[in-house]
Amino acid sequence: MNTVIVGAQWGDEGKGKIVDYLTEKTDVVIRAQGGNNAGHTVINDGKKYVLHLIPSGILWPGKSCIIGNGVVLDLFSLIEEINTLRSQGILVTPENLAISEGAHLVMPYHRGLDSSKESSRGNGKIGTTGRGIGPAYADKIERTGLRVADLDDPEAFAEKLALKVEEANLTLEATGAPKIDLEVLGREILEAAETLRPHFANTVALAHQYIADGKRLLFEGAQGTYLDIDHGTYPFVTSSNTTSGGACTGSGVPPKHVGQVVGVAKAYTTRVGEGPFVTENQELSDHFHGMGREFGATTGRARRCGWFDAVLVRYAGMVNGIDQLAVTNLDGLDTLPVIRLCVAYELNGKRIEFPPATSRLFDACTPVYEEIEGWLSDTTEIRDYDALPEKARAYLDRITATTALPVRIVGVGPDRSQTIFRA
Ligand code: IMP
Repeated sequence: MNTVIVGAQWGDEGKGKIVDYLTEKTDVVIRAQGGNNAGHTVINDGKKYVLHLIPSGILWPGKSCIIGNGVVLDLFSLIEEINTLRSQGILVTPENLAISEGAHLVMPYHRGLDSSKESSRGNGKIGTTGRGIGPAYADKIERTGLRVADLDDPEAFAEKLALKVEEANLTLEATGAPKIDLEVLGREILEAAETLRPHFANTVALAHQYIADGKRLLFEGAQGTYLDIDHGTYPFVTSSNTTSGGACTGSGVPPKHVGQVVGVAKAYTTRVGEGPFVTENQELSDHFHGMGREFGATTGRARRCGWFDAVLVRYAGMVNGIDQLAVTNLDGLDTLPVIRLCVAYELNGKRIEFPPATSRLFDACTPVYEEIEGWLSDTTEIRDYDALPEKARAYLDRITATTALPVRIVGVGPDRSQTIFRA
């Protein structure tokens, strides 16, 4: 069965670990959207791997990975990631990593424009990762983007690049940011393309061949439902479809080949960057940061933390068609005497069960909480669902009751082994 994995919150739900865990039963792992704004941390046998563009399946011998057409690709960042993996003993080859010819390129001027646009937004800034993701997708939608396939024709590529650089430099200059040197960039990008060329492929045909061969596919979602360009807390979102539909458009694998959708949510909520966050709680943020947890894998930023928000996760269940939920980081709550769970919002004196349509309305919502007694014991060594403290199971039952999603996987620590599968 082919599986799509999506984040049910604002990203950083621990999807990398769940993907890694499910990869054992999979043959092919596909990234279909986002770029190197993602940071998937996988810890195996105490060794830490941070992946940004490459699917987590790369850590398993014999698995194939695909970077699909829906991804925006920073070639320099990808080469760096491949080199880092090599230094950690993981070899990335054309056999285990194919890159779509249709993927759009993230160029250094996109990064420059990302920063310039953020600075000009002042108080309205989005808090982007600064990786050029928004400007690269903007070019794609505007139909002026450069794609992997364009690298095959260096002359035509150089012409298009010259236009893009000229245009970008006008904005960069106006905002006092360093301009791009066309000649240097043109040379460096073609060098990078040479290094990566053996990986370039028609990944749609490849994915369909895998399906015809009876291989199992796993789609590794990046970011989370509320960062989705259509369904997230707009405009405080990323620029791609992070929800399950994005797995199809971003890979060329149609919905009829998706067998199940696994949603991943933390046992609480976090977000990085700006934007509404109804259950945000400073004490909880202090609690996690004091434990050295909840710092971003890509930017190192301290994440904002809050209680589990069933309003968001329930709605994520609808948008994505989530069949089962993986609840990660349960152990983060081990020492708390009282745990809160948001079951609805109050907006202008009315109880609402679904996320409101605008960020302003979101900001006007107050959470309606249920309180649950904490279990006050260490869960990190537990590997069997029934061995979890009764109060921890009661909490997970409340998550199922309030989100209408069955909890089938529970994470009790960062290591691959610290994962409980509920039969
Ligand atoms: P961008 O994707 O860099 O444009 O950033 C837009 C918003 O999405 C910002 O709030 C980022 O912090 C957030 N974001 C992007 N990628 C991730 C991720 O992988 N995890 C969590 N937040 C992310």
